[in-house]
Amino acid sequence: MSTAVLESYPTAEFDIPSDISAEFGAREEGNHAVFTIGQKTFRLDKEKARARMAGKRVINGERSAELNVLPLKYHEAYRIYKQMKANHWEPDVIDMTKDCNQWNSDALSPKERWIVEMGVGYFSAAEGIVGDSVLHVIEDNLTAAELKHASLRQIAEESIHMDSLLHIIGSLNIDIDEVTAKFQDIPSIRKKNAFITRHMPELKRGMDLTQTVDKQKFAKAIFGITQVMEGTQFYALFAMILSIHRQNKMTGIGQMFQYTLRDESNHIALGRYLLEQLVKENPDIWTPEFREELVAFMAEGVELEKEFVRDCLPEDAVGMSLGEFLSYVDYNADRRLASLGLPTLSNVKENPFLWLDEVIFLKKEKNFFETRVTEYQTSGSVQNASEDDLI
Ligand SMILES: [Fe+2]
Ligand SMILES: [Fe+2]
Repeated sequence: MSTAVLESYPTAEFDIPSDISAEFGAREEGNHAVFTIGQKTFRLDKEKARARMAGKRVINGERSAELNVLPLKYHEAYRIYKQMKANHWEPDVIDMTKDCNQWNSDALSPKERWIVEMGVGYFSAAEGIVGDSVLHVIEDNLTAAELKHASLRQIAEESIHMDSLLHIIGSLNIDIDEVTAKFQDIPSIRKKNAFITRHMPELKRGMDLTQTVDKQKFAKAIFGITQVMEGTQFYALFAMILSIHRQNKMTGIGQMFQYTLRDESNHIALGRYLLEQLVKENPDIWTPEFREELVAFMAEGVELEKEFVRDCLPEDAVGMSLGEFLSYVDYNADRRLASLGLPTLSNVKENPFLWLDEVIFLKKEKNFFETRVTEYQTSGSVQNASEDDLI
């Protein structure tokens, strides 16, 4: 994301292209704009396409029940959608035999068992909170089809994540009510969830997005869900679970968390892009006071997250240092803030877990649906998907 875009208060005007060829990369044939993407050719009525393009906005644009993404205006959202689709995975085909054996033996230390329980307990609620908030607060207010399309894909992925937790709970034969009850009583989890959902009931009742104050509430909700919660408050526990996975323990769970984390990186990127485009079209949102409000919100999220990390790992364990996990919280918070052109909060400039990026983005050529093993992407494409294969 270009931070310069946010900082320069760009104009909200959108110019209707005078040259449709330049706009669509299309050739003109009479009344049609004809363009080729990948193996496919699309013919659009020139005037209708132009009108649809002119009506596209992040919010307050033309709504269309057909969700026709053409002609594309928000190319990056469509690229992220394609990337999300390429990363598709299915939890219930991941083999949990080894996890089950380890869970029912003394393979795990008490600290490691606690971290796995925290992982299941926290994410069982958190994935639902994200899915519900993206559906009712974010997607519902977006008006451009390709933005809704990407947002709907995110909601579907949150369902996959919830499903993966059920797969874990069912495979390990954990009592789901016991897990839920146990984690409802942990103050750091309660506080984290309450902090994120604080304004959701009000936002779900509806916003007047012609008003700056409500546009700011909407922007803050996107920031809260995608940058604070998914982008900062998910990562330390993910890293703890993957540290256990790295020691060849609970590898089925580790694999699912690996895929989940890769999905989350796309959700964070989508949230950042939505914010960028929203502010570009509505520069009245991005006041100095509002930017301070976002930074303060992140700072509160960081404090709550550190309290939670201390609950997960009260002291160092094999291969896990509490200090590094706390630094990781600062590191993630700062990179989310910096990516939006906002001031950072800490002096942590280095990622303490470089190995984690390698784990998440480890690439293998195998296709999951043929082999049902380990890393995969459905299309076999391991780089960013391109809108060139628009279907
Ligand atoms: Fe998720
Ligand atoms: Fe997510």
